[in-house]
Amino acid sequence: MNLIQVPTYADLSRVAADLICTAVAHNPRSAIVVATGDTPMGAYVELAQRHALGQFDSAHLRVFQLDAYWGLPPDDARSLYGWMWRSFLQPLHISDAQVTRLKGDAADPAAVCAAYDAAVAQVAGFDVSILGLGPNGHLGFNEPPSPADAPTRMVNLTEASIASNARYWGGREHVPPQALTCGMAPLLAAKQTLLLVSGARKRHILQQTLSGPITPEVPASLLRLANHVTVIADQAALGG
Ligand code: PGA
Repeated sequence: MNLIQVPTYADLSRVAADLICTAVAHNPRSAIVVATGDTPMGAYVELAQRHALGQFDSAHLRVFQLDAYWGLPPDDARSLYGWMWRSFLQPLHISDAQVTRLKGDAADPAAVCAAYDAAVAQVAGFDVSILGLGPNGHLGFNEPPSPADAPTRMVNLTEASIASNARYWGGREHVPPQALTCGMAPLLAAKQTLLLVSGARKRHILQQTLSGPITPEVPASLLRLANHVTVIADQAALGG
């Protein structure tokens, strides 16, 4: 696990965009799994600017949704697909045909999850994984405890995740209690992972991720067993 320490959130966003651009320049057909949440938004703005300048070619990317609240209709304002569309797909002119969704309103969630893992296998795994860090150590919605072999599946959100997600939607009563999440197994098998961590509220969980016990109780700590993981953290998250 490689740690890049940067002074500010703006630096984090620029460094993350640099690494994503380098990976995609090397392999324009990269299979890339894309987090929502606040942390990666600055990097996505950087990518959109570079795309507008012709410096980032997204035309051949294969994009995978990381997670989805369960039970929301597609036009619900809280849809994580909608958030991904506004922040990543639309600014980068990525077409529907390039995207593998996790449909949170499907009739059969188990079938959706199995189809997703089959699609990941079809592209021989993720080339690039862009992740944020949950305050409880979750990746996507792999809530603690999540073992390393956990597949893509439906989960119950923990109280910590509901409390953390409440700020996106104006209160915890607006956070759906269940979600579909890309599993730990496909995430840990990614050829390259970028874990973006910003802000003082992540200080404790970042320290546990980097140097606490490697345990399903802190799913992000399992990244220390994976290949080519880069944590990009700003000074507020690192403390000291
Ligand atoms: P955040 O969310 O980027 O909004 O902090 C991260 C997460 O909870 O996974």
